[in-house]
Amino acid sequence: MSEQSVKSNQPLFLRAAWGEDTDRAPIWIMRQAGRYLPEYRALKEKYTFLELAGTPELAAEVTLQPLRRFPLDASIVFADIMTPLESMGVKIDFSPGPVIENPVRDVAAVEALRVPEPEEITPFVMETIKILRRELKVPLIGFGGAPLTLATYLVQGSGSKEYEFLRQFLRAEPEAAHLLLDKLADLSIGYLKEQVKAGAQAIQLFDSWAGIHDAEMYREFGAKYATKVLSALADEGVPRIYIAVKASHLYDEIAKLPVEVVSVDWRVPLDQVRPQFPGKTLQGNLDPAVMLSNPEVITREATKTLKAGLGGPHIFNLGHGIFKYTPPEHVAHLIECVHSFERKS
Ligand code: CP3
Repeated sequence: MSEQSVKSNQPLFLRAAWGEDTDRAPIWIMRQAGRYLPEYRALKEKYTFLELAGTPELAAEVTLQPLRRFPLDASIVFADIMTPLESMGVKIDFSPGPVIENPVRDVAAVEALRVPEPEEITPFVMETIKILRRELKVPLIGFGGAPLTLATYLVQGSGSKEYEFLRQFLRAEPEAAHLLLDKLADLSIGYLKEQVKAGAQAIQLFDSWAGIHDAEMYREFGAKYATKVLSALADEGVPRIYIAVKASHLYDEIAKLPVEVVSVDWRVPLDQVRPQFPGKTLQGNLDPAVMLSNPEVITREATKTLKAGLGGPHIFNLGHGIFKYTPPEHVAHLIECVHSFERKS
């Protein structure tokens, strides 16, 4: 079989992720399993987030909920970027964002973190992936947090507006910071390779907080470790997706990362961004707030995004996670808009 025919047998999402300028754009939605769905909220009445994510049958059920409702082109395993850190001995609670019992603020705390063997890292996530691969008809995305974003929560201790403890830590304790980031990179490599082994068909690396840094800091503490993780996945046979939010000032650095797909938030139009990422697939970038409006506005704004995505491979998504107040019928409407848009006419 020729390479072309092998490729054309692949699902739309994977073809676009591997760089094919497809006739229509595949769509999935960041946080597509979650609180905007009544069936998710019903499960959350009975179980905590940790119980849901930690029980393979439940995590698989939550992953499948949006797929039962909507003809999405990909799914993403239900877990959290902080999930694998528990295997390092970190105690985490969710309320609803991650809260670290003992934030990591000095060398001793960094040294105390152990890097587990890959097969010790959250085996329940791998079990969830195996269940999902038996059930799913669309590709399954695995994911993890980039080292700098994981460190952001570990050092700060919880979500925050400014992450000032992390930003001072990188400057005042650069050696401890590098040791921490290196350990987090090793953890992530093991975790993501295990996900691929279990059946994940693409990997998205979330660097949600990279954008709080200037380019020099990002180069030293962000890109270096994201590159370590992403290049370790080069031979795994799955496309790699990278997302940083509010990070257009870092795009020169992000363009050098070894990935197939760059996810873009809504602050920059895709056609303006495209020349900065030659040869890469763009993912994004509808403002998630548009989903709160009404079907006419969603059609108008989604069409704008679809047109801006022409001229190269495009995976449609929101610029960041979907809001919990989004009416589910707006999601159905968005998917219809994206699927009916002919990219080649
Ligand atoms: O459907 C999916 O997208 C898969 C599940 C998923 C979760 N977290 C579940 C979750 C994914 C991909 C993540 C990634 C994640 N987690 C990121 C990167 C994406 C981003 O938003 O930039 C980050 C920064 C986190 C850390 C985190 N976990 C935060 C900030 C929060 C609270 C925010 C919120 O939405 O309330 C969480 C908790 C969390 N992770 C929830 C879910 C479904 C909410 C738990 C609940 O239902 O109460």
